[in-house]
Amino acid sequence: HRHMLNLRDLDITEIHRILKRAAEFKAGAKAQFPGKVVANLFFEPSTRTHQSFLMAEKRLGMEELNLIPEISSLQKGESLYDTVKTFEAIGADAVVIRAKEDRYYEELVGRISIPVLNGGDGSGDHPTQSLLDLLTIQEEFGRFKDLKILIVGDIRHSRVAATNVEVMRRLGMTVCLSAPEEFKRSGVGYCSLDGVLQGMDIVMLLRVQHERHENAFDQDSVAYNRQFGLNRDRVATMQKHAIIMHPAPFNRGWEITSDVVECSRSRIFKQMENGVYVRMAVLERALR
Ligand code: CP
Repeated sequence: HRHMLNLRDLDITEIHRILKRAAEFKAGAKAQFPGKVVANLFFEPSTRTHQSFLMAEKRLGMEELNLIPEISSLQKGESLYDTVKTFEAIGADAVVIRAKEDRYYEELVGRISIPVLNGGDGSGDHPTQSLLDLLTIQEEFGRFKDLKILIVGDIRHSRVAATNVEVMRRLGMTVCLSAPEEFKRSGVGYCSLDGVLQGMDIVMLLRVQHERHENAFDQDSVAYNRQFGLNRDRVATMQKHAIIMHPAPFNRGWEITSDVVECSRSRIFKQMENGVYVRMAVLERALR
């Protein structure tokens, strides 16, 4: 099956192939899959991933089903496995799933006959987000090797950081992390934001994921931004060619001040645009 569960399962050649196809779609390449039906199952809130998968499905001439968990039989205790089996039975050709459990897909793989495309699993992985980040970086720099990226913020709860750290290192990038003590994952090294910012090609901010914290985070936005956020003063110290990224949604005023969100170095909205093309490439890969 051409699942897309995480990027660890894909070799570098396959990652480059998906990025190349996404770039072709962006340049106007067309593909049509009439009669193919994709079911979108989002058990966690999403704007970008859900809507850009929908946009990609429409651009590819696919039809889509959307589960609304609140009015589904999940409310009667039906499991994820039985829900996906139901979509398979009624004729879906692929499922896109976002769920709060890390590696939720392990209970599906090998037991269902249609591809699973992971739209984010808890604090595990977010493969299509990483691919759209990589497409954005490739467009900007034309390469990955020897680029330096600093990922800053709530690393511990971030599936985006987890997927990006692994794949970016594999692609030859230098990945630095910076985070408050309570947002660090164990087993990885950290550096000081102001100590390394000036040498970076890319700075990627992460949202403070209040909804995943066991204990309330007891800092306000101003204090957090002063220590771990991007603002006009810090941006002024970055290299001329350096860019700013963020998977979004962003918390304006926390990890990034409002003026920086839309400044000339920001590629945040380009990332969202690229999400459609990457998801077209991933859907085509699953259903061709
Ligand atoms: N970046 C991202 O995954 O955004 P959503 O949670 O809105 O899908």
